[in-house]
Parts: sequence; C-alpha cells; structure tokens
Amino acid sequence: MFSYNLNKEFRSRLELVKNEIDTVLLNQEDVNVRPEGYIHLYGVAQNCAMLAIKRCLDVEICTIIGLLHDIYIYKEGNEKEHAMFGSIVAENILRDLEMFSEDEIEIVKTAIIHHSDRVTKHDKYSELLKDADVLQNSLYLKKFDLKNKKRIKKVFKESGMKTRFKELAREFVKTESRNFKIEGIEKPFNK
Ligand SMILES: [Fe+2]
Repeated sequence: MFSYNLNKEFRSRLELVKNEIDTVLLNQEDVNVRPEGYIHLYGVAQNCAMLAIKRCLDVEICTIIGLLHDIYIYKEGNEKEHAMFGSIVAENILRDLEMFSEDEIEIVKTAIIHHSDRVTKHDKYSELLKDADVLQNSLYLKKFDLKNKKRIKKVFKESGMKTRFKELAREFVKTESRNFKIEGIEKPFNK
C-alpha cells in the first residue's frame, strides 16, 4: 500500500488534501481508472479554483471540493451512489486532518452530496462544483451530455469560451456519430 509521509506542520491544507487524493489514486489497481482519476480530479479542482475567483467564493475550499468530489469512484471503482458515499469519505479525510472548521466541512460535504443532481438548484458551492465537473468532462473527453446542455453553455460563456462551444459540440457530434452511429444529435446543440 502506497502512502505519503508528510510532516503536517509544514504543509498547507491544500497540499495535505492533495496527498490524500494521490494516496487513493496510487492504490487504485486499475491502470485505466488511475490516470482518469488524476485528470478528472485535478481538472475539476482547477476549474473550481477558476470559477471561485470569478464568483468571489473561497478558492481554497472550492479547490478542495473539486479534488475530493469523486473520491469514492477512484477509491472503490464504483460510481453507484458515489455522491453520497463520497461525501462521507471526504468528511472523514477532512476530520482526520484536524485543520478544518465544522462550517468548512459542511460546505464540502454538501457540495459533494449534491453534485450528481444537475436539475435542482442548490447553494453556491454545490452549483460551482456541478459547473466545474461538466466543464472538465466537456473539455477533456468532450462528453457533452445533452441533459447538461444549458449548464455547459452557461459555464462556457462565463469562462469566455462562448464561441468555442459550438465548435467543440460539432466535434463531439462527429466523434459520437462515427463511434455510435447516432443520428440527429447535432440539432439540440445548434439552438
Ligand atoms: Fe466528477
């Protein structure tokens, strides 16, 4: 079992959470899941930081939310109910570090619990995580989930990439059509 041995006193909170994530990822035996985890968790964390700056929210806490949000998937290799189970794993990590207030733990937990529900509007931190998550999926794997079209468009616009949205959506359509022979998928993105 891999683990990092860091002297807590000399490390920032962000660095300590990052090391918890790295330990989980290093122990993930599936060689396909592991790199996916690094890309997704760090990608979402960075998007969280960017959106936190734009929305005047706590950048450190938002980055930590991004790092921890899918921890359950990469720990257990299981997506089912990962938001709920992941919030418990995240809470335990933050409590064990003994460096976070009750309010901060609550913000992180709440955002993770809500992040799979893209329909209901929740608090600012939960909405930020959902936006950061769809943005990462859209940019890296070009996973344009039609259910999230409105959210993706909004976050693209907020990030100053309004014009790139249609272009990327078109590329996605081409790839999807080629891979899965989906017809008539382009229309919803052109609205
Ligand atoms: Fe995610």
